[in-house]
Amino acid sequence: MSELNKIALKIITGGKGILAADESTGTMTKRLEAVKVNSNEENRLNFRKALFTSESMKKCIGGVILYDETIKQSSGSKTIPELITESGAIVGIKVDTGAKSLAGSNDEKITEGLDGLRERLKEYYKLGARFTKWRGVYSISDKYPSKLSIHSNAHALARYAALVQECGMVPIVEPEVLMDGNHSARVCYEKTSEVIKKCFEELIISKIDLTGVILKPNMILDGSGVTQKIDGEQVAQLTLKCLKESVPEEVPGIAFLSGGQGEIEATENLNLINKSNNTKFIMTYSYGRALQQSALKYWAKDINDISGTQKTFNHRANLCSLAAQGKWSKDLEIQS
Ligand code: 13P
Repeated sequence: MSELNKIALKIITGGKGILAADESTGTMTKRLEAVKVNSNEENRLNFRKALFTSESMKKCIGGVILYDETIKQSSGSKTIPELITESGAIVGIKVDTGAKSLAGSNDEKITEGLDGLRERLKEYYKLGARFTKWRGVYSISDKYPSKLSIHSNAHALARYAALVQECGMVPIVEPEVLMDGNHSARVCYEKTSEVIKKCFEELIISKIDLTGVILKPNMILDGSGVTQKIDGEQVAQLTLKCLKESVPEEVPGIAFLSGGQGEIEATENLNLINKSNNTKFIMTYSYGRALQQSALKYWAKDINDISGTQKTFNHRANLCSLAAQGKWSKDLEIQS
């Protein structure tokens, strides 16, 4: 077993998943302003620190993805990576520098951040990171995602993954097909399959050790504008079909993004996926909003009530962990 495979398995095994707390300062500011909290460095750290020191970290969170600002912050005598490592979770870092307009396409994006990446990775490794994230983003419409977007983003993801493995870290490969639009789940299945297959084609050309990669895909859903949506059982079946057909078997695990699903919806769908998981992959969560939303709302009402915030987060993390084992049920949603 390679060192990279060991790290990947430690992050996702035993009902553990990933807390995606890597919102850029711009995105975090939007999240905080939505709950009427001022977005300054202290507030961003205090909310995140409340999550990182929660009881459920030990049992439910195998890895935390940080943003550049947070990985360099400290709390008292400890750095944030030290605080996370103490809970038993592995420190991860978002290393892309965001999605920019893709030249040659009117409305699509290409993720940037390859220039100087080797040097930045060395710095993050020294700060304690052992895994990384890079997100490619694709939208669905009658002409998109274009071949250009599918090809360019896959190529960037592969170059990123090669540099990350060279530095001794596990790359999370995140091709996110957005839910915005009126497309059917069938179209989402077709486009997501094409996107993921292309990513692995490029990863293989770049000689990536696939046993040391975690795939972070979207689930197969109807577009957000569709009124009559497929049910969770169908989401699970289509998602499993897509991944079984598109992901090489050497990949140890898949950690879904929540991508705008509500907390309960994302948990229920993950549970259904695990209940009928007929693949070799571990299927877990790498949720941002679907792990943090309730805790953020609670905290915003009184930013000094850390224990109440942690209780809310623990509840959500426990339910996600149960879903990662196919043991969730709706009646557990009621918080005591
Ligand atoms: P969401 O779960 O909120 O989609 O965030 C996950 C993530 O890391 C997106 O890049």
